[in-house]
Amino acid sequence: MILVTGGAGFIGANFVLDWLAQHDEPVINLDKLTYAGNLETLARLQGDARHVFVQGDIGDAALVSRLLAEHRPRAVVNFAAESHVDRSIHGPEDFIQTNIVGTFHLLESVRAYWGSLPGAEREAFRFLHVSTDEVYGSLGKDDPAFTENHRYEPNSPYSASKAASDHLVRAYHHTYGLPVLTTNCSNNYGPYHFPEKLIPLMIVNALAGKALPVYGDGMQIRDWLYVKDHCSAIRRVLEAGRLGEVYNVGGWNEKPNIEIVHTVCALLDELRPRAGGQPYAAQISYVTDRPGHDRRYAIDARKLEAELGWKPAETFESGIRKTVQWYLDNPDWVAHVQSGAYREWVGKQYSGSAA
Ligand code: NAD
Ligand code: DAU
Repeated sequence: MILVTGGAGFIGANFVLDWLAQHDEPVINLDKLTYAGNLETLARLQGDARHVFVQGDIGDAALVSRLLAEHRPRAVVNFAAESHVDRSIHGPEDFIQTNIVGTFHLLESVRAYWGSLPGAEREAFRFLHVSTDEVYGSLGKDDPAFTENHRYEPNSPYSASKAASDHLVRAYHHTYGLPVLTTNCSNNYGPYHFPEKLIPLMIVNALAGKALPVYGDGMQIRDWLYVKDHCSAIRRVLEAGRLGEVYNVGGWNEKPNIEIVHTVCALLDELRPRAGGQPYAAQISYVTDRPGHDRRYAIDARKLEAELGWKPAETFESGIRKTVQWYLDNPDWVAHVQSGAYREWVGKQYSGSAA
């Protein structure tokens, strides 16, 4: 079996659902259930003996060591993190705690477990750390896309905390020989994405008749990958990645934010036209920019493609259509995640931020 951390969040839950749709290999899912963790996403696994959910913190060494000793996983896939840049600007401490201190404790627990394994199991064991392209910093308009050798230049408390975790993972391989793999992926989108992030926020606000808040001039560029393609990349790296190596994951889909927002609006115009016939784009509102906002990310994923033969299955056009349709088909999931805590965040982040 494998141990997945953060498997009740957006990407972790998609990973667990995809894994169990393709394998019978069981998953222990360790998740603290912060505001971003949602067991409803995993509802279809209820009663499935292949999925064991444990609520807990990656930094709880006693708990993690017990889980490792009891279940003897052949791999750990670490998704657990605080993941939202804007929240890291309002309050960095949780990011330091989970992404740096938590990853450190997790690595320590895993190192002790791995060291105790007999020869063949020890040989086969893997620790896969899921990271982000944001650790590389921001690109100029004409710069080449980030390769795995790009200098680390994190600009937000979130990306700095992820960069620190990547360095720890690297050091545990270099110093102790821990069999690690690291993936650095671009922006994901797809089902079960928490509506604090750009694409789900735009869909949810549009349908609610609210403003669509575009930061600054809306010309910041992100490189978008459908979440299931990220999951297939992680499975492939886990299966065949070279120990200690870093693999960038991306789909060659660079788009300015304003284009993303217009695409979402156009799909909604087609699939759920507004009563009265006004286009959803009429709800777009330019607001104050994010402090320290990175201008452009772009991922060069050629190493993963050449070495491991991975390719994304979705184009941006097919993936975004599926995503918008998923939100239209799942109003209950959306309504349930928009709890009091969610409303509090939206109030704090967007009140009085008109540009
Ligand atoms: P998310 O915020 O949706 O989910 C994070 C999950 O981790 C939640 O379920 C939360 O409850 C859990 N968690 C948080 N702190 C924890 C702790 N101390 N112990 C155990 N569980 C904890 O995040 P996501 O978007 O699914 O991202 C998952 C991972 O992928 C993160 O490491 C993130 O940095 C990375 N990543 C995300 C993207 C993206 O576009 N979303 C892109 C590249 C990499
Ligand atoms: O690049 C990978 C990263 O992508 C991950 O590591 C992070 O965990 C993930 O949250 C994401 O970070 P971003 O900051 O790029 O994602 P977000 O959806 O928050 O914002 C995407 C872009 O849209 C960014 O340029 C900011 C802008 N934006 C975002 C929001 C929430 C807006 O213009 N308006 C908004 O309301």
